[in-house]
Amino acid sequence: MEGNTGNQSVKEVAVVTGGNRGIGLEICRQLASNGVTVILTARDEKRGAEAVSILGTLGLSNVLFHQLDVSDPSSAVRLADFIKEKFGKLDILVNNAAIAGTTSEIGNPETFRQEVAGMELKERVDRIRKHMTEPYKQAEECLRTNYHGTKAVTKALLPLLRFSSHGRIVNISSRYGLLRFFRGEELKQELSNIDNLSEERLDDLSELFLKDFKDGQVERRGWPTEGGFIAYKVSKALMNAYSRILAKEHPSLCINCVHPGFVQTDMSFQVGDLTVEEGARGALMMALAPKGGMTGGFLNRTEVAPFV
Ligand SMILES: NC(=O)c1ccc[n+]([C@@H]2O[C@H](COP(=O)([O-])OP(=O)(O)OC[C@H]3O[C@@H](n4cnc5c(N)ncnc54)[C@H](OP(=O)(O)O)[C@@H]3O)[C@@H](O)[C@H]2O)c1
Repeated sequence: MEGNTGNQSVKEVAVVTGGNRGIGLEICRQLASNGVTVILTARDEKRGAEAVSILGTLGLSNVLFHQLDVSDPSSAVRLADFIKEKFGKLDILVNNAAIAGTTSEIGNPETFRQEVAGMELKERVDRIRKHMTEPYKQAEECLRTNYHGTKAVTKALLPLLRFSSHGRIVNISSRYGLLRFFRGEELKQELSNIDNLSEERLDDLSELFLKDFKDGQVERRGWPTEGGFIAYKVSKALMNAYSRILAKEHPSLCINCVHPGFVQTDMSFQVGDLTVEEGARGALMMALAPKGGMTGGFLNRTEVAPFV
């Protein structure tokens, strides 16, 4: 596709994090099918190269691989150097890579799928919860990947996005990052009030959460404890707030968050409602939106929705 940037000679270039499987791989496939040059990134070279080759067998030759571990800021810098050298700009960044911050006893996803077949969505999620624990180590890794990792990649690539005539960032978030899950009114208010929030304060809140988690104080402070996935919810809420701050600071870019829905991927043990194709729809809408569209917003699948 010629870029919808007005400059007919420049092809659009996109980076997708965690592009080797799940929703990320599907976003790569759909972007490439739309003529965008896609840099599919993955933390593991072999898994990334295999994903590129799968897309190659579908006739998509406009996908290339670059290593990126989002939790390692130096790998984001190496990626930025590569893009600068090869393309001189970046049009689309999809921050998709994330982890659930849990450990699970579900060994065989196929057996689990049979176990939950015919159950309502809530029951299926409850069944996943029954099999999982949330140790501190995983909570810490979850914040490091989903919140700090997204920030590090964004920071490294921001100068290249500013070289595009229509730079877009799509942060793959979750409904679990909505502020309604926070029990404490004070935290909820603070995270809603974007005009008074700073990135430094978000970093402090990330530290505070981990401290509370370690000290067994999550309930008392009002972190989102009900229904589990506590670190995941906090990481996505902080990522949402960061996305809104960034959108205010960079009005020339379009920066939005998208909840993909409950999607059949490894993260959901393949028991989601939606196919990856359906789950990628909102992200594609935002990634390919024409200039002058929404910024600082949230999509629940493909519908604009509030952050609360
Ligand atoms: N599936 C759902 O129902 C659902 C619902 C709401 C939101 N989401 C969000 O959608 C996005 C994609 O999730 P998914 O369901 O496709 O999950 P997934 O199948 O578990 O895939 C996650 C991807 O992230 C990568 N990743 C994890 N840590 C990384 C790191 N440090 N550096 C680079 N890549 C890393 C994984 O790479 P490896 O293969 O190397 O592990 C994998 O490619 C996530 O942001 C998730 O929070 C999913």
